[in-house]
Amino acid sequence: MSSHESNYKPTSRFGKWLDDRLPVGRLMHGQFVDFPTPRNLNYWWTFGGILTFCLVAQLVTGIVLAMHYQPSAAEAFNSVDHIRRDVNYGWMIQAMHATGSSMFFLAAYIHLFRGLYYGSYKAPREILWILGVFIILAMMATAFMGYSLPWGQMSFWAVTVITNLFSSLDSIIPGVGTAIVQWLWGGYSVSGSTLNRFFALHYLLPFVIVGLVALHIWALHVVGQNNPAGLDIKTKSDSVPMYPYAVAKDAVGLFAFLLVFAWFVFFLPDYLGHADNFIEANPLVTPPHIVPEWYFLPYYAILRAVPSKLGGVILMFASIAILAFAPWLDTARVRSSKYRPIYKWFFWLFVFTCLALGYLGAKPAEGSYVAWARVFTAYYFLHFIVVMPILGLIETPKKLPGSITEDVLGPGAGKGATAGAAAAPETR
Ligand code: HEM
Repeated sequence: MSSHESNYKPTSRFGKWLDDRLPVGRLMHGQFVDFPTPRNLNYWWTFGGILTFCLVAQLVTGIVLAMHYQPSAAEAFNSVDHIRRDVNYGWMIQAMHATGSSMFFLAAYIHLFRGLYYGSYKAPREILWILGVFIILAMMATAFMGYSLPWGQMSFWAVTVITNLFSSLDSIIPGVGTAIVQWLWGGYSVSGSTLNRFFALHYLLPFVIVGLVALHIWALHVVGQNNPAGLDIKTKSDSVPMYPYAVAKDAVGLFAFLLVFAWFVFFLPDYLGHADNFIEANPLVTPPHIVPEWYFLPYYAILRAVPSKLGGVILMFASIAILAFAPWLDTARVRSSKYRPIYKWFFWLFVFTCLALGYLGAKPAEGSYVAWARVFTAYYFLHFIVVMPILGLIETPKKLPGSITEDVLGPGAGKGATAGAAAAPETR
């Protein structure tokens, strides 16, 4: 992985024997025990660990649910009811999985905005960032297919609306969009065949996410972690070993996160869902107001802000794709917004824009709601294609601390420290 040399010393004879043959303990020790982490990391850096927890929790609860769930149009709805009522601790496992998807997205969005604020996407972390964008796309596909499985009214109609978006391709080559939609459905409408394939893919995709996360963490350990000052590790005193320092902080962050998670699971298990999903799917009755889960609302607002269907679909996908270009759109010389007096305000304007789009996504697509959705959609893109490139060139950043150590201990600290275990090569 990284150039960092592990100081791993096997303590048992078996450990030594294994280390000579398959040094997996050495790899783990080097990457997750004595790996040098910047000493100034704040609690926003605990979300990577929290996300890893969420992924494992979704996998474990999902596999247990799959043991009792029936992926057929006739049985799916009742099988979820059966899980909640009859299966031992089924109520808890189902609530953990359903609420867990919301918690997973909450953590992923915080993690992503942390990266945007501290410039973690900038060189040399471009690949790490792009892998993050792929992860969020895979998470979206997984959550979308997972939502169809309870086969309630909202499940059915959300699948109908979103899969139908592909029919907008008919306006480019007539017939192609419809053909794709029917191929996705496995028939001429959303049906049991659609449910069955969505179940298969919903089971598969999380393992793709596991693979992407492995690459994400690999990339992270090659270039080393960014930090609130946005500086590279230069001397030994700039870093601390991952264990116990970063691990202990991660544990505190995870515990606080689990309190919120547990609050929802035990007190408000259905709060984040939609009441219509307690009605079994009925192709003959369209709900008056079809809304996706909260984590899709900003994209839904963008989709409906555009008068043309195809245009809306393109902008919706572009709103994610544009994230991948952030490393090249941002021209600033410093990474962290902490040292960017003007950009900092634009960052918060961007956060407000995303929240506003989320609010508008939950409202009917009419009147002033649509007008405001257009305004915020415009700013969403302007932020990337105008603010990031231009502001980076004209803004004068504040004076950076001389080193990560100085960022923690104040000016002059860390002078004379010997060069040592740097996570990132110093040549950049
Ligand atoms: C399953 C989802 C994900 C998992 C398990 C995960 C895991 C991690 C972990 C463990 C770290 C190191 C600790 C930390 O910096 O918090 C990290 C760092 C990072 N992640 Fe993720 N991540 C996920 C999704 C994402 C997404 C969606 C993005 C952005 C699009 C992203 C971008 C980054 C970046 C830029 C860093 C480096 C941060 C820095 O060093 O400042 N990650 N990730």
